[in-house]
Amino acid sequence: MAAHPVTADRVPAMNQPAPRPSTTQLPAWQALLACCEAAAGRHIADEFAADPGRAERMHTEACGIFLDYAKNRVDAPTLALLFQLAREAGVAEQRAAMFGGERINRTEGRAVLHVALRMPAGSTLMVDGDDVVADVTAVRERVRRFSTAVRKGEWRGHDGRRITDVVNIGIGGSDLGPQMACEALRDFAHRELRLHFISNVDGIALDRLLGTLDPGTTLFIVASKTFTTQETLTNANVARRWLLGHAGSEAAIARHFVAVSTNTEAVARFGIDTANMFGFWDWVGGRYSMWSAIGLPLALQIGAERFDELLAGAHAMDVHFRDTPFEHNLPVILALLGIWNVDFLDAPTQLIAPYHQGLHRLPAYLQQLDMESNGKSVRSDGHAVGCHTSPVIWGETGINGQHAYFQMLHQGTRPVPVDFIGVLEHPAHLHAQHRIAFANMVAQAEALMRGKRAAEAAAEMHAAGLPQERIDALLPHRVFAGNRPSNTLLLDRLDPRTLGALIALYEHRTFVQGVVWGVNPFDQWGVELGKQLAGRVLEDMDRSTDINAHDASTTALIDRYRRGARTTDPAQHA
Ligand code: F6P
Repeated sequence: MAAHPVTADRVPAMNQPAPRPSTTQLPAWQALLACCEAAAGRHIADEFAADPGRAERMHTEACGIFLDYAKNRVDAPTLALLFQLAREAGVAEQRAAMFGGERINRTEGRAVLHVALRMPAGSTLMVDGDDVVADVTAVRERVRRFSTAVRKGEWRGHDGRRITDVVNIGIGGSDLGPQMACEALRDFAHRELRLHFISNVDGIALDRLLGTLDPGTTLFIVASKTFTTQETLTNANVARRWLLGHAGSEAAIARHFVAVSTNTEAVARFGIDTANMFGFWDWVGGRYSMWSAIGLPLALQIGAERFDELLAGAHAMDVHFRDTPFEHNLPVILALLGIWNVDFLDAPTQLIAPYHQGLHRLPAYLQQLDMESNGKSVRSDGHAVGCHTSPVIWGETGINGQHAYFQMLHQGTRPVPVDFIGVLEHPAHLHAQHRIAFANMVAQAEALMRGKRAAEAAAEMHAAGLPQERIDALLPHRVFAGNRPSNTLLLDRLDPRTLGALIALYEHRTFVQGVVWGVNPFDQWGVELGKQLAGRVLEDMDRSTDINAHDASTTALIDRYRRGARTTDPAQHA
């Protein structure tokens, strides 16, 4: 097992008792350590050879998603201990607390109710005397009416023309979820509406986009849970000025700007009519918010009925997660295998490899979901975690990865667990290409697992007629150790329902891991320091000398900016 990232003496004392022993003290954890040592020399390929029933046992499916987890470095006793670990860590109790609306986000004193966002209308979930499902349903209804009006061309711009372009201005959870889903579900898109996503504050993307848009037919969604995010407000102000510059009157704003936020006052201060604001609640974390009105761009793209299907798919996964025994529970299985890989097999990263172009933004979405949730070294009770938590999540479409970084996966020095994600249903006219992509995905998982032993590599070279001397020289380079773990997830199809289930699956996986590690997956204090310091750096960039204290390197960089940054005339580039 790897060295602990944070030692107890570096964590400020918190006068809170630990609710349970630390994860690493749990009996199942200790037993897993022993298991890990015993399994050190074992190869997954040998496990397959010794156990013809392995693949049959090590798969499960729910909500249109099939999971094959047989290519992991675990045997039956290890798996049993992992499930035991989940029990000892209190996963069932914390799961019940989340679904019950308890304030499990302790550091922020909030309930965590993204599951309420996809509960069917008419169901009830009481929190502090308030039926949150009724509130959710009311906003959902407004989203339905608004998105339908825009899609039908009934909501028009200030000069009476229908909306053709929708620009979502947001960042993090107010961008990644709807953007990922809009990309994934493009086949269901309205033909006359184009969706755009702007998050970067450097101005380049927005500048390039505005140059292609017609102000009279453009609708901006300013999406920000807090409505204080510098990047979003900066971009929104640029868009506002651009619109006013063309439309001339403030009255036009109401036809071209809507907001999605929890902060009514700030929305009003910005100049957006709060009648055009879609609210949500502090019990929805930003990275868990695509099911709320933050999903408005998607509702505009695919329509409210299909957005409901997305919610229904996520709800089906919620029910599966809530009611299924751990041994058949997709999020629990994925979470525990992830912990095994990170903490016992020392895998510092996790690759997400979708073999479907529609899912190309999924890795970016999962980065925030996982790393902002569980990238922590202190438990909810203020004590050091004592083991590794969130791995680095990375990736892009698998087929591109194969021609870029898969070399390292096959022959690098550290294991990189992979989630391969494939889609079974595909358009008839793409059948030939789909077969190739699918074959590659399955083959990569097979290659990572089985590897190529020396005898096999030597035999191949003999057969190719290579002289013995050359074979001896090349052999070490042509051996693949194999034994590299992966999961394969197969979606029946990429439609709103299955996408909803897939995202909910990863949300709950993240939750289970957070519970086992004992961290709070629903806060993000770690993003604050950089924001604070950016404010001070910004002040100093505008002065001739620093008024804030910085280290010498930071001061030198600010100074370099003062002396070196120049503005250019865009016409020069034309
Ligand atoms: O800085 C990180 C963060 O707070 C994320 O957690 C959040 O999703 C993102 O910024 C955007 O926040 P907001 O929706 O409040 O603009």
